[in-house]
Amino acid sequence: MTQDIPVPEPGYLRGLNAPQRDAVLTTEGPVLVLAGAGTGKTAALTARLAHLVATRRAWPSEILAVTFTNKAAREMRERVGRLLGEAVEGMPWLGTFHAVAARMLRRHAELVGLTPSFTILDTDDQLRLLKQLLSAADIDEKRWPARQLAGLIDRWKNRGMTPADIDAGEGELFANGRGGELYQQYQDRLRAVNACDFGDLLLHMLVILRTHRDVLADYQQRFRYVMVDEYQDTNSAQYLWLRLLAQERKNICCVGDDDQSIYSWRGAEVANILRFDRDFPGAVVIKLEQNYRSTPHILAAASGLIAHNGGRLGKTLWTEEG
Ligand SMILES: Nc1ncnc2c1ncn2[C@@H]1O[C@H](COP(=O)(O)OP(=O)(O)OP(=O)(O)O)[C@@H](O)[C@H]1O
Ligand SMILES: [Mg+2]
Repeated sequence: MTQDIPVPEPGYLRGLNAPQRDAVLTTEGPVLVLAGAGTGKTAALTARLAHLVATRRAWPSEILAVTFTNKAAREMRERVGRLLGEAVEGMPWLGTFHAVAARMLRRHAELVGLTPSFTILDTDDQLRLLKQLLSAADIDEKRWPARQLAGLIDRWKNRGMTPADIDAGEGELFANGRGGELYQQYQDRLRAVNACDFGDLLLHMLVILRTHRDVLADYQQRFRYVMVDEYQDTNSAQYLWLRLLAQERKNICCVGDDDQSIYSWRGAEVANILRFDRDFPGAVVIKLEQNYRSTPHILAAASGLIAHNGGRLGKTLWTEEG
């Protein structure tokens, strides 16, 4: 004879509202959580991570959890630490896109002609190198500044484009059609000194995952669950990288603010949110609409400001305060 014994609710669910619980408990398949600022997105994602580990759906090392900013990565690490205790130490794949990609790239550096101890160039080093290349190519730096070329190369990398992908039209954007050739020289120089720049961390990994099926299959197997915070700010290279890693199991949960990205900085595209549904058909969309930070007055002003934003998926903000 069995008796119904009330099961105590796990700590990580306490205090969450209904849609947040949905976001935590909908573990299988693609999930897109859309919400405004301060609606508890990071809180829900962190509880989800705790749930996956606590219910033994995955070991911490089998979860890929990426964020755009250091702040969000720190928040997640601290909160998961509080919810799970020491298990967070075993979360090597929780961090910013750049930190996670760098860790991954060190494991496969030789596949792109680097060694595992490659250095990561800062902006000053990058400009110094580009200036040398411009001078060697007899290009007038007053007319064609190194900074402009650096910006262009960065944009190409953010779009997932290697030198081979630069067509005549793109190359035309610098020094009368020499953009592609300079990009190639820059990449050659970096490789020769066993270095890469920030954009390369993602781009090199993208190239490796695309050209080495065994490496891709290994990560697709390893990552039972993929989670992304601040999804609205991901650039194309990051999106393509995520899509490859999650394509096999399709257990991917992206949390995004579709209003913040109207600022469109660093190649961020609201299109990322819209195309998630196309790349992961049948995605469950969950909306968090209760704001825990602002007063109704502030929300009204914010709604007015974002009313002109075309690509939104329809959501309103409300608050219980005041
Ligand atoms: N269900 C809830 N009940 C009460 N407070 C909550 C709830 N969910 C989140 N909070 C609190 O609201 C605040 C904002 O939460 P959180 O940082 O997760 O939101 P966010 O949507 O990620 O914010 P941002 O837009 O800044 O990234 C935090 O102080 C958090 O503790
Ligand atoms: Mg957040």
